[in-house]
Amino acid sequence: MPQFSEADLTAAVIKSFDETPDPRVKFLLQELVTSLHDYVRKTDLTFAEWEYAIDFLTRVGQKCTPIRQEFILLSDVMGVSMLVDAVNHRERGGATETTVLGPFYVGEHKQMPHGADISPRNHTGEKMFVQSRVTDIKGKPLAGVPVDVWHADDDGFYDSQKPEYATQGPTSRARFVTDDDGRFFFKTILPCSYPIPTDGPVGEMIMQTRRHPMRPAHVHFLVSAPGYEPLITHVFISGDKYLDSDVVFGVKNELVANVERRTDPKMPDGTAAPAPWHLMTYEFHLKPGTGAVPKPMAAKVAEHA
Ligand code: BEZ
Ligand code: FE
Repeated sequence: MPQFSEADLTAAVIKSFDETPDPRVKFLLQELVTSLHDYVRKTDLTFAEWEYAIDFLTRVGQKCTPIRQEFILLSDVMGVSMLVDAVNHRERGGATETTVLGPFYVGEHKQMPHGADISPRNHTGEKMFVQSRVTDIKGKPLAGVPVDVWHADDDGFYDSQKPEYATQGPTSRARFVTDDDGRFFFKTILPCSYPIPTDGPVGEMIMQTRRHPMRPAHVHFLVSAPGYEPLITHVFISGDKYLDSDVVFGVKNELVANVERRTDPKMPDGTAAPAPWHLMTYEFHLKPGTGAVPKPMAAKVAEHA
């Protein structure tokens, strides 16, 4: 009967995965065992700490629903999401920088006509006109490309975090399709900085460790064209006080847009503008390639049902 020393135990667990048919799965599992065992040895993990960790992860799982993903949130605040992003996007070659998907890519992104107003219901925020264009890395416009857009409301919550989401459906999210010149435009409100959800175990950890839970104001974009790498990114609003301390480490300089404050009576599409309003102008550049396009969370859950 084998009896293992600390070091033998690690080797035995690694060996136990030797017959894994998929070489990549085998590699991932064996490396995971190595890192986990190193952590336990390095920290002299106590039983109480191990039990706390198990309970914490259990609570993270229990907090998940078809439209709430506490595990993604955990990955985000630990910087793992941005690290996965970094190792997968080492060479941009002029393509737009990427950032976290985040846990609020949920529900349906209904296609809307250019110029549509996707402002939240009963909002008090100031209006923003977003004008954008999708090109390849050489500047060739890409036509007919779906662009999913979503952002937090002016109270700092996403639609899916509110009770009325179940009865009234989505707001502040939509899909636009680029025209022949790669352009699309829409209206909404100027988003504000907001806290990640703090009513679950991840938020509890952030507060107990004296971190702040804030993300700088931004709009999410998911741009996916056949023959190009899907682009998952945000555009941040310049001047936000949390740009240097985003709780999920997601800010990149190139993604900060200079959003202009305007008082002219009409927006670029000729519609009346309640002053002041704001103008965001940003171009996305796609890199040739392939990649899996993420699905909104509820659609993924329905597939697995
Ligand atoms: C978001 O921007 O929607 C987000 C990203 C990561 C964690 C929480 C929220
Ligand atoms: Fe967000």
